[in-house]
Amino acid sequence: MDMTGKTALITGASRGIGADTAREFAKAGAKVALLARSTEAVAELAGEIGSDAALAIPCDVSRQHEVAAAVAATEDAFGSIDVLVNNAGVIEPVAHMATADPEAWSHVIDINLKGVFYGMHAVLSGMIARGGGTVLTVSSGAAHGPVEGWSHYCASKAAAAMLTRCLDKEYRDKGIRAIGLSPGTVATQMQKEIKASGINPVSQLDWSAHIPADWPAKALLWMCGPEADGWLGDEISLRDEGIRKSVGLA
Ligand SMILES: NC(=O)c1ccc[n+]([C@@H]2O[C@H](COP(=O)([O-])OP(=O)(O)OC[C@H]3O[C@@H](n4cnc5c(N)ncnc54)[C@H](OP(=O)(O)O)[C@@H]3O)[C@@H](O)[C@H]2O)c1
Repeated sequence: MDMTGKTALITGASRGIGADTAREFAKAGAKVALLARSTEAVAELAGEIGSDAALAIPCDVSRQHEVAAAVAATEDAFGSIDVLVNNAGVIEPVAHMATADPEAWSHVIDINLKGVFYGMHAVLSGMIARGGGTVLTVSSGAAHGPVEGWSHYCASKAAAAMLTRCLDKEYRDKGIRAIGLSPGTVATQMQKEIKASGINPVSQLDWSAHIPADWPAKALLWMCGPEADGWLGDEISLRDEGIRKSVGLA
């Protein structure tokens, strides 16, 4: 995949899947905007990638004005946004519904769901004006089935998956390519938090069951190309052997 001349804005780029996605996109020639709350981590990654190709932007995706400002700063610096990767997400606090703290529960919705909408909303007018763009959203098996202790996460991921479908419905004919990626379990900080919670079968998985973060990163890059057009408005599962083969992972 040659991304020369393209710009990707990646949320949650301070570590895990988002950081590896930034590395993969930059390797393919893209300019990358790196958004996360951890200012130092995104600055360090921008330094690793190179200041010509990477822009670190402190941003909390649960705050609409911060997302809008980050999109504007990226367009100012690089001229356009061709790809939005909605990757930022949280799972803590894992809790049963009767004992969950409603404010903390709601904040997960603010990040995992509203953050995705804020990103889509902020990039759309620019993408449409330039004839199109790709909006990739990191989904989860939890979007499609209940998991104990994860009501906030399951509800937010299910709704975010619906945002991908709505985006496709409204804007495919304007050149917007909206696709979700369900990566399976990935060896990141999020899985460490899941393991520490001890609540459900996912927390019992052996660490070796998780795929490395560069796998979903490579899949997200592949999804920018026409081979993924069959999944527009839909979700790709990285558990699928055929997909792994197409991406070059198997
Ligand atoms: N790991 C898995 O097994 C797995 C499976 C399915 C789906 N996913 C999804 O994959 C995505 C990435 O997760 P990961 O596994 O790479 O976990 P991770 O290592 O914990 O990374 C999460 C990223 O999201 C960022 N983030 C969290 N809250 C944010 C906020 N309010 N504003 C901006 N950035 C925020 C974090 O940065 P800061 O804390 O610096 O803000 C971090 O960069 C998530 O959407 C997750 O739901 C993961």
